[in-house]
Amino acid sequence: MANVRIKDLPQHVGEKVTISGWLYNKRTSGKLQFPIIRDGSGYLQCVVFKKEVSPETWDAADSVTQESSVRVTGTVRAEERAQGGVELGVESFEILGTAQDYPITPKEHGTAFLMDVRHLWLRSKNQHAILRIRNEVEKSIRDFFYDRDFVLIDSPILTANAAEGTSTLFETDYFGEKAFLSQSGQLYLEPAAASFGRVYCFGPTFRAEKSKTRRHLMEFWMVEPEVAFLEFDGLQELAEEFVEYIVGRAMDRCAEELKVLERDLTRLENVKRPFPRITYRDAIELLKSKGMPANFGDDIGGDEETVIANSFNAPVIITRYPAAIKAFYMQPAPEDESLALGMDMIAPEGYGEIIGGSQRIHDHDLLLKRIHEHGLPVDKFQWYLDTRKYGTFPHSGFGMGIERCVAWISGVPHLRETIPYPRMLNRIYP
Ligand code: 4AD
Ligand code: MG
Repeated sequence: MANVRIKDLPQHVGEKVTISGWLYNKRTSGKLQFPIIRDGSGYLQCVVFKKEVSPETWDAADSVTQESSVRVTGTVRAEERAQGGVELGVESFEILGTAQDYPITPKEHGTAFLMDVRHLWLRSKNQHAILRIRNEVEKSIRDFFYDRDFVLIDSPILTANAAEGTSTLFETDYFGEKAFLSQSGQLYLEPAAASFGRVYCFGPTFRAEKSKTRRHLMEFWMVEPEVAFLEFDGLQELAEEFVEYIVGRAMDRCAEELKVLERDLTRLENVKRPFPRITYRDAIELLKSKGMPANFGDDIGGDEETVIANSFNAPVIITRYPAAIKAFYMQPAPEDESLALGMDMIAPEGYGEIIGGSQRIHDHDLLLKRIHEHGLPVDKFQWYLDTRKYGTFPHSGFGMGIERCVAWISGVPHLRETIPYPRMLNRIYP
C-alpha cells in the first residue's frame, strides 16, 4: 500500500492507509496510547487500543521515543477535535529507527544550544513553519518575475569585482589570482539587461560583516531585478508592487504557518501600495525630531531605521541619499549632483532595510570617474564599462535580502531562523 501524506488524509476518511513519519509526542491512558506523528506535511493523532492490536504493535507504541521514525497502518476516522480533522485507528505500528535521547525536548533551550543542533532544530514546529514561509516567498518571487517577462540570469558566485565596497569581501585564491565571493549579482545583470530588457538573479551572496546583529548574515540570498529604460520613479513603483505581491501570497498560502508563529496579521494587511516615501533629508529631520543624534551625511543605521519605521504603518521608501555614503554606480540626482538616485525600503516593526536599489549611472565617463574616486581597479571593470560604450541606456534595479523579508513576514526577530543553515560571525557549524 502506498504511503499517504498526512495533509491528504481528510480525503481518505473510512479508508485503510499507511503513513510514515516521526514521533512528535505521545499521551497514554491505561489501555490506550495516543502517539502523534509528523511527516513534514502535517501532524496526526493515532489511537492504539490494546484490545484491538497485536502485542508487537502495542509494545512498539508503548516504547516508542520522541523523534523515532515509524510506519503506521490504520483506518482514517473523522475527529473534529483533532488537528486536521482526522485521526488514525491503528492496526499496526512499527518502529523503523529508534531515536535515543533526542536532544531537543519540549522544555526551553538556549539559542546557542539550538544553533549547535540546527540540523535537528529544523524539525521543530516553529522552524518548520518559518522555512515553509521562506519556500513560499521564494516561489512567489519567481512567479512575480516570470509573469512579468523577466528572464532569470544566474550570476557567478566567484568574481574578480567588488560590487558593494571592499570592506566586506570574502577573498579567495583563484589559481594565483585574487577572487571574491559575490556580494551582489547586479554588475552582471546590467549587461544582460541589454539583451533581455528585464532580467533578475536570485542566489546566495556573501558579506564578511564584522557586526554581530540580528539583521546580518555572512551568507544570505538576494533577489535582484534590473530593468532597461526604467528610471527612478518606476523603480520605486516596481519595488512596491513586488513587496505587496509577496506579502499577499504569504498571507494567502501560509495562513497555517503564520498561525503557528502567532503572527499579528493586521500589521501585514497594511502592506498596500502606495507606500510612504520620504527623502533622506526628511529622514534625518524626522530622526532629529525624535531626539536621535542624526546629522546630514550620516549613515542610517539599524536603530535609526527602527525609529523611522515606527513612524509609519507600511514599509517606507527613503530616497536621494548623499552620494558619498552610497555605492559607486548610482546615478546623481538631476537637481543636486551630490545626491544619489538611490532608494532603500525599510520594513515596519523594526525589521530594517529589506530593499536597496538605485538608478545606475549610464554615462561612460562619469562611471569611469566614480570607479577611480572609489579606488577600484579599472582593469577589472572594463567589461562593466562596455555596457556604457555600446548603446548605453538608462536603467535601474534593486536587491532584496530574502531572510530579512521572511523574518518580517514571519514575525521572528533574528535572521538566523529564516535560513536553513545560517552563517554568522564566528559560526559555520553545522
Ligand atoms: O543594499 P544592498 O547592499 O544592495 C546591493 O547589494 C545592490 N547591489 C542591490 C541591487 O541594486 N541590485 O543589499 C540589498 C539587500 C539589503 O536591503 C538587505 O535586505 C540585504 O540585501 N542584505 C543583507 N541581508 C542579510 N545579511 C546581510 N549581511 C545583508 N546585507 C544586505
Ligand atoms: Mg543597502
